[in-house]
Amino acid sequence: MSDNGISHENLPSSEQESAHGEVERAHDPFVDPGMPAHRPRIQDIDERAAKRSERTVAGLFTLSMLATIGFIACFVAFPVDKIVYVWPFGHVSALNFSLGLTLGVALFAVGAGAVHWARTLMSDVEIIQERHPIEATPEVAAQAKRDFLQGAAESGFGRRKLIRNTMFGALALVPLSGVVLLRDLGPLPEDKLRKTFWKKGLMLINQNTNEPLRPEDVTVGSLTFAQPEGLDEHNENFNNEIAKAALMIVRIQPADIKDKRELEWSHEGIVAYSKICTHVGCPISLYEQQTHHVLCPCHQSTFDLSDGARVIFGPAGHALPQLRIGVNGEGYLEALGDFDEPVGPSFWERG
Ligand code: FES
Repeated sequence: MSDNGISHENLPSSEQESAHGEVERAHDPFVDPGMPAHRPRIQDIDERAAKRSERTVAGLFTLSMLATIGFIACFVAFPVDKIVYVWPFGHVSALNFSLGLTLGVALFAVGAGAVHWARTLMSDVEIIQERHPIEATPEVAAQAKRDFLQGAAESGFGRRKLIRNTMFGALALVPLSGVVLLRDLGPLPEDKLRKTFWKKGLMLINQNTNEPLRPEDVTVGSLTFAQPEGLDEHNENFNNEIAKAALMIVRIQPADIKDKRELEWSHEGIVAYSKICTHVGCPISLYEQQTHHVLCPCHQSTFDLSDGARVIFGPAGHALPQLRIGVNGEGYLEALGDFDEPVGPSFWERG
């Protein structure tokens, strides 16, 4: 056994006791080898070499800026469907190829510039920091601050203004690539989500028969679905428009209508409400004629059609929008305008 309690077989061979009882430490693997001698780089001793490196770094940052500008130019210039031949890839999308190439060059150049700067111009003197308690003493903190300031001074960040400014330029321009890509999210909806196909004078068309509705077609207790006159199902926008304009129509005894505005916007107790649930937009289809409640089948939101279609149960946060209706000169039900609020999910109110 050694004097620290470890059996001899478990000690490194160099620490096993010799025949004379002495510990051999000639090849102690734990001896601190120390730091290798610092070898100055060519840039440390030759100012012309340092200038060359500075120009290289600035050139790379400038290349990054140009590539980012090129990225934006390609994004604007190339149509999505333009195909070009590029050796050795063959026929490729001009837009995708140019965007990938310019963005790749921009990112590579800014990275390569930073690496070249660090390897050739920033100080490469290794600084040893001894192990110490986690909380630094005031002296150590002061030394760390001095080391940091020394490193900052030796990096040339303040002195080499060309590098610093081109780097800031490159870093400022690179994110622009992401900004211009936002254009691919498509055109802004403008007021398309706030307006529907309905406008003053459009007749209410029964969705089952495709015939204009007369007041006498809507009987107490029935639920009728309607769409605007002129909304052709062969139109390419039909699905978008019907998703906003779909109506449900019921007749309620005027005396049973509790909401004053609802009564004013009805015709002889016939009320027209958006069929689109204000929770997440399912079409409402279940009507309970005794209570005048309608139920959305998706998450069971329930609306009281005799009281302004207010929500009486479920997750919907907003009453169903009502369409003001009347009767035209030929005796058909017609809209007296568009909905006065957006239809569908009630996130509009929180926007
Ligand atoms: S979509 Fe109607 S309750 Fe959820």
